[in-house]
Amino acid sequence: MIGGGQLARMMHAASIGLGLRLRLLAEGPDVSAAQVVHDVVVGDYTDPDTVAAFAAGCDVVTFDHEHVPTQILHDLEAAGIAVRPGPEALVHAQDKAVMRERLGALGVPCPTNRVVPDAAALVAFADEYGWPCIAKTSRGGYDGKGVWKLDGPEQANIPFDGLHGLRADAVVIAEEFVDFTRELSVLVARRPGGQAVVYPVSETVQTDGICVATTTPAPGLRPDQVRDLQAMALRIAQELGVVGILAVELMEARDGRIVVNELAMRPHNTGHWSIDGAVTSQFENHLRAVADLPLGSTAMVAPCAVMVNVLGGPRTDLLGGLDGLFAFDRAIKVQLYGKDVVPGRKVGHVTAVGDDVEDTTGRAWRAARYLRGDSDE
Ligand SMILES: Nc1ncnc2c1ncn2[C@@H]1O[C@H](COP(=O)(O)OP(=O)(O)O)[C@@H](O)[C@H]1O
Ligand SMILES: [Mg+2]
Repeated sequence: MIGGGQLARMMHAASIGLGLRLRLLAEGPDVSAAQVVHDVVVGDYTDPDTVAAFAAGCDVVTFDHEHVPTQILHDLEAAGIAVRPGPEALVHAQDKAVMRERLGALGVPCPTNRVVPDAAALVAFADEYGWPCIAKTSRGGYDGKGVWKLDGPEQANIPFDGLHGLRADAVVIAEEFVDFTRELSVLVARRPGGQAVVYPVSETVQTDGICVATTTPAPGLRPDQVRDLQAMALRIAQELGVVGILAVELMEARDGRIVVNELAMRPHNTGHWSIDGAVTSQFENHLRAVADLPLGSTAMVAPCAVMVNVLGGPRTDLLGGLDGLFAFDRAIKVQLYGKDVVPGRKVGHVTAVGDDVEDTTGRAWRAARYLRGDSDE
């Protein structure tokens, strides 16, 4: 496992029952997953020698993020190590320009978009398709960093000024601003031979580019819409040759159109509910997929599941919040990531499952607010 964040930490938990031995390449000795994994190498995942030495003796390499340079992954494959997802698939999660071009060729609905070399080209695009417009870096963005909403031509330099702070090899993509009413996501797990399973569609609330909550299944979708979105995600996974989890982030526009925002090829924040809300979690299915084992059922264990992220707030001692939390709600489930509490940082999440969306949503939000220290209730 390359990358020691909370996704690796939760995959470690899933690996235990499967009897898979995880070796971790961690950014530091005390990052989230390094606190729990036994076999840890601390090193720089952008250094070819570090990654090669780490991977020697591994049957398969997978990731908790998408930032390992493509050339390093090709080198691993040349050395006979299975890389899952492989570099040809992963590039669609690393580079939004490559992703847009490929999805366009597949006929997958996306916002109108164009790679623009300079501010003048960006203005020309937006004059054609309308202001405001979205500009984003093709590479290196995360949690909304590297995405700009531009209101007029006077702001057209912003992405070009911001770009090179993020990545030297990135380009700017101009996109039609989608006036969305909500964001959705659909997750697929796929094995090397093509067996694949798909999870129910989730609704996701993003604030300032960060996922803060999900509701599964997404309320208000017609059964035929759900089927179409699931079929689309399965088709994307197959066409791109994804192995492991593919997350398809979607935007539902005011006019009802649903378009793809971006792709991720790893367990995804919008799938965290599946630990407590599905027969097989996204973390377990990711590991089963990369280990080429039959995939587990994605059926829900209750009619609805609501996940709320715990973002760093007034409470610095999260463990101190568990007493009140568990005393109040004996069915609430918590994952803490072992991170220092920094304002706004993702330090954990809570999940409630239940029969009634309103009640389950209330329980999950109350728990998250209490845990981060917003309220004593
Ligand atoms: N074309 C668009 N129209 C409107 N909002 C957008 C568009 N593209 C992105 N966004 C908003 O910006 C957020 C972050 O964009 P995304 O490409 O997913 O970047 P990141 O890599 O940071 O997750 C999205 O979740 C969505 O809320
Ligand atoms: Mg995103």
